[in-house]
Amino acid sequence: MLVKTFPTGGDRNLAYLIVDEASKLAAVVDPSYDPAAVVSGAKDAGVQIAYAFCTHDHHDHTNGNAEFEALTGVKPLLFRDVDPKTDARIDGGTTLPLGDLSIRILHTPGHTPDSICLSIGDAVFTGDTLFVGKVGGTDLEDGARTEYASLHDVLLKLPDETRVFPGHDVGVTPESTIGAEKATNPFLLRPDLESFIDLKRNWAAYKKEHGIA
Ligand SMILES: [Fe+2]
Repeated sequence: MLVKTFPTGGDRNLAYLIVDEASKLAAVVDPSYDPAAVVSGAKDAGVQIAYAFCTHDHHDHTNGNAEFEALTGVKPLLFRDVDPKTDARIDGGTTLPLGDLSIRILHTPGHTPDSICLSIGDAVFTGDTLFVGKVGGTDLEDGARTEYASLHDVLLKLPDETRVFPGHDVGVTPESTIGAEKATNPFLLRPDLESFIDLKRNWAAYKKEHGIA
Protein backbone atom coordinates (compact mmCIF):
# COMPACT_ATOMS: atom_id res chain seq x y z
CA MET A 1 0.00 0.00 0.00
CA LEU A 2 1.18 3.45 -0.91
CA VAL A 3 -0.17 6.70 0.58
CA LYS A 4 0.41 10.00 -1.16
CA THR A 5 -0.44 13.19 0.75
CA PHE A 6 -1.54 16.40 -0.98
CA PRO A 7 -1.58 19.71 0.91
CA THR A 8 -4.50 21.34 -0.89
CA GLY A 9 -4.62 24.80 0.70
CA GLY A 10 -7.57 26.05 2.73
CA ASP A 11 -6.85 25.63 6.41
CA ARG A 12 -3.84 23.38 5.76
CA ASN A 13 -6.27 20.78 4.39
CA LEU A 14 -4.82 17.42 3.38
CA ALA A 15 -6.07 15.12 0.61
CA TYR A 16 -4.89 11.54 0.21
CA LEU A 17 -4.38 9.04 -2.59
CA ILE A 18 -4.22 5.46 -1.30
CA VAL A 19 -2.91 2.91 -3.77
CA ASP A 20 -3.13 -0.86 -3.78
CA GLU A 21 0.06 -1.57 -5.69
CA ALA A 22 -0.97 -5.09 -6.76
CA SER A 23 -4.15 -4.05 -8.58
CA LYS A 24 -3.16 -0.42 -9.33
CA LEU A 25 -6.49 0.65 -7.87
CA ALA A 26 -6.70 3.72 -5.70
CA ALA A 27 -8.99 5.53 -3.30
CA VAL A 28 -9.05 9.26 -2.65
CA VAL A 29 -9.92 10.96 0.64
CA ASP A 30 -11.05 14.61 0.84
CA PRO A 31 -9.90 16.00 -2.53
CA SER A 32 -11.00 19.39 -1.13
CA TYR A 33 -9.36 22.48 -2.67
CA ASP A 34 -7.18 20.79 -5.25
CA PRO A 35 -8.81 17.80 -6.96
CA ALA A 36 -6.70 18.35 -10.08
CA ALA A 37 -3.48 17.72 -8.11
CA VAL A 38 -4.82 14.45 -6.73
CA VAL A 39 -6.04 13.32 -10.14
CA SER A 40 -2.73 14.10 -11.78
CA GLY A 41 -0.96 12.31 -8.91
CA ALA A 42 -3.03 9.23 -9.75
CA LYS A 43 -2.17 9.57 -13.43
CA ASP A 44 1.55 9.91 -12.64
CA ALA A 45 1.36 6.77 -10.48
CA GLY A 46 -0.45 4.91 -13.27
CA VAL A 47 -3.38 4.00 -11.03
CA GLN A 48 -7.12 4.01 -11.48
CA ILE A 49 -9.27 5.80 -8.92
CA ALA A 50 -11.95 3.34 -7.80
CA TYR A 51 -13.49 5.39 -4.97
CA ALA A 52 -13.40 8.76 -3.35
CA PHE A 53 -14.66 9.70 0.11
CA CYS A 54 -15.24 12.80 2.15
CA THR A 55 -14.70 12.37 5.87
CA HIS A 56 -17.61 14.73 6.62
CA ASP A 57 -19.81 17.34 5.03
CA HIS A 58 -17.86 20.50 5.78
CA HIS A 59 -17.18 22.85 2.89
CA ASP A 60 -13.39 22.72 3.24
CA HIS A 61 -13.54 18.95 2.65
CA THR A 62 -16.23 18.84 -0.03
CA ASN A 63 -15.70 21.99 -2.13
CA GLY A 64 -13.75 20.14 -4.84
CA ASN A 65 -16.27 17.31 -5.25
CA ALA A 66 -17.96 18.57 -8.45
CA GLU A 67 -14.60 19.18 -10.12
CA PHE A 68 -13.31 15.82 -8.90
CA GLU A 69 -16.31 14.02 -10.37
CA ALA A 70 -15.98 15.93 -13.66
CA LEU A 71 -12.32 14.89 -13.91
CA THR A 72 -12.74 11.22 -12.92
CA GLY A 73 -16.39 10.20 -13.22
CA VAL A 74 -16.12 9.12 -9.58
CA LYS A 75 -18.46 10.81 -7.12
CA PRO A 76 -17.00 11.33 -3.64
CA LEU A 77 -19.05 9.40 -1.08
CA LEU A 78 -20.14 10.72 2.29
CA PHE A 79 -21.71 8.96 5.29
CA ARG A 80 -24.90 7.13 4.28
CA ASP A 81 -24.27 7.55 0.54
CA VAL A 82 -24.56 4.43 -1.60
CA ASP A 83 -21.58 3.44 -3.72
CA PRO A 84 -22.94 2.90 -7.25
CA LYS A 85 -20.39 0.18 -8.11
CA THR A 86 -20.90 -2.11 -5.12
CA ASP A 87 -24.32 -0.89 -3.84
CA ALA A 88 -22.65 -0.64 -0.44
CA ARG A 89 -24.02 2.02 1.90
CA ILE A 90 -21.33 4.06 3.61
CA ASP A 91 -21.91 3.40 7.30
CA GLY A 92 -20.00 2.20 10.35
CA GLY A 93 -18.73 -1.31 9.59
CA THR A 94 -19.13 -1.11 5.81
CA THR A 95 -16.19 -2.63 3.96
CA LEU A 96 -15.29 -2.06 0.34
CA PRO A 97 -12.66 -3.97 -1.63
CA LEU A 98 -9.66 -2.11 -3.06
CA GLY A 99 -7.69 -4.79 -4.90
CA ASP A 100 -5.85 -6.76 -2.23
CA LEU A 101 -6.81 -4.18 0.41
CA SER A 102 -10.10 -3.43 2.02
CA ILE A 103 -11.53 -0.12 3.10
CA ARG A 104 -13.39 -0.25 6.40
CA ILE A 105 -15.67 2.64 7.27
CA LEU A 106 -15.62 3.77 10.91
CA HIS A 107 -18.48 6.02 12.01
CA THR A 108 -16.92 8.54 14.37
CA PRO A 109 -19.50 11.25 15.15
CA GLY A 110 -18.60 14.23 17.30
CA HIS A 111 -17.01 16.95 15.16
CA THR A 112 -20.09 16.38 12.97
CA PRO A 113 -22.78 13.67 13.20
CA ASP A 114 -21.68 12.35 9.78
CA SER A 115 -17.93 12.12 10.49
CA ILE A 116 -16.28 8.95 9.23
CA CYS A 117 -12.74 7.63 9.38
CA LEU A 118 -11.39 5.16 6.83
CA SER A 119 -9.33 2.21 7.99
CA ILE A 120 -7.23 0.93 5.09
CA GLY A 121 -4.34 -1.53 5.54
CA ASP A 122 -2.10 -0.25 8.33
CA ALA A 123 -3.47 3.31 8.11
CA VAL A 124 -6.47 5.29 9.24
CA PHE A 125 -7.68 8.51 7.64
CA THR A 126 -9.18 10.52 10.46
CA GLY A 127 -10.65 13.65 8.84
CA ASP A 128 -11.48 16.18 11.56
CA THR A 129 -11.98 13.58 14.31
CA LEU A 130 -8.32 13.19 15.29
CA PHE A 131 -5.39 15.45 14.43
CA VAL A 132 -1.74 15.18 15.37
CA GLY A 133 -1.76 16.49 18.94
CA LYS A 134 -5.33 17.74 18.74
CA VAL A 135 -8.91 16.58 18.18
CA GLY A 136 -11.77 17.96 16.08
CA GLY A 137 -13.68 21.01 17.22
CA THR A 138 -17.03 20.36 18.91
CA ASP A 139 -19.43 22.04 21.26
CA LEU A 140 -18.82 21.38 24.96
CA GLU A 141 -21.85 19.13 25.38
CA ASP A 142 -23.26 16.41 23.10
CA GLY A 143 -20.65 16.95 20.38
CA ALA A 144 -17.78 16.59 22.85
CA ARG A 145 -19.41 13.57 24.52
CA THR A 146 -19.93 11.83 21.19
CA GLU A 147 -16.42 12.65 20.00
CA TYR A 148 -14.92 11.29 23.23
CA ALA A 149 -16.73 7.99 22.63
CA SER A 150 -15.65 7.88 18.97
CA LEU A 151 -12.03 8.45 19.95
CA HIS A 152 -11.87 5.95 22.81
CA ASP A 153 -14.30 3.27 21.62
CA VAL A 154 -13.41 3.31 17.92
CA LEU A 155 -10.11 4.97 16.93
CA LEU A 156 -8.01 4.03 19.96
CA LYS A 157 -9.07 0.39 19.56
CA LEU A 158 -6.96 0.26 16.40
CA PRO A 159 -3.47 -1.24 16.80
CA ASP A 160 -0.89 1.21 18.19
CA GLU A 161 1.22 0.98 15.02
CA THR A 162 -1.68 2.18 12.83
CA ARG A 163 -0.57 5.22 10.85
CA VAL A 164 -2.80 8.27 11.35
CA PHE A 165 -3.48 10.61 8.41
CA PRO A 166 -5.60 13.59 9.52
CA GLY A 167 -7.74 16.04 7.55
CA HIS A 168 -5.58 19.06 8.41
CA ASP A 169 -1.85 19.51 8.93
CA VAL A 170 -2.12 21.24 12.31
CA GLY A 171 0.37 19.28 14.39
CA VAL A 172 4.13 19.06 14.80
CA THR A 173 4.22 16.48 11.96
CA PRO A 174 1.70 15.89 9.16
CA GLU A 175 1.08 12.25 10.19
CA SER A 176 1.34 10.15 13.32
CA THR A 177 0.36 6.76 14.74
CA ILE A 178 -2.39 5.69 17.12
CA GLY A 179 0.30 4.71 19.68
CA ALA A 180 2.05 8.10 19.45
CA GLU A 181 -1.23 9.97 19.80
CA LYS A 182 -2.22 7.82 22.80
CA ALA A 183 1.10 8.69 24.42
CA THR A 184 1.26 12.42 23.64
CA ASN A 185 -2.06 13.93 22.49
CA PRO A 186 -3.24 16.01 25.46
CA PHE A 187 -6.89 15.32 24.66
CA LEU A 188 -6.32 11.55 24.62
CA LEU A 189 -4.33 11.69 27.85
CA ARG A 190 -7.32 13.08 29.71
CA PRO A 191 -8.56 10.28 31.98
CA ASP A 192 -12.28 10.96 31.66
CA LEU A 193 -14.94 12.82 29.72
CA GLU A 194 -15.15 15.64 32.21
CA SER A 195 -11.46 16.53 31.97
CA PHE A 196 -11.58 16.09 28.16
CA ILE A 197 -14.33 18.70 27.99
CA ASP A 198 -12.44 20.84 30.46
CA LEU A 199 -9.39 20.87 28.16
CA LYS A 200 -11.61 21.91 25.24
CA ARG A 201 -13.02 24.72 27.37
CA ASN A 202 -9.54 25.92 28.34
CA TRP A 203 -7.69 25.03 25.12
CA ALA A 204 -6.60 28.60 24.28
CA ALA A 205 -4.94 28.99 27.67
CA TYR A 206 -3.44 25.45 27.54
CA LYS A 207 -1.91 26.14 24.12
CA LYS A 208 -0.39 29.39 25.32
CA GLU A 209 1.00 27.76 28.44
CA HIS A 210 2.54 24.86 26.46
CA GLY A 211 3.71 26.86 23.43
CA ILE A 212 1.43 25.00 21.04
CA ALA A 213 0.77 26.74 17.72
FE1 LIG B 1 -14.61 19.93 9.67
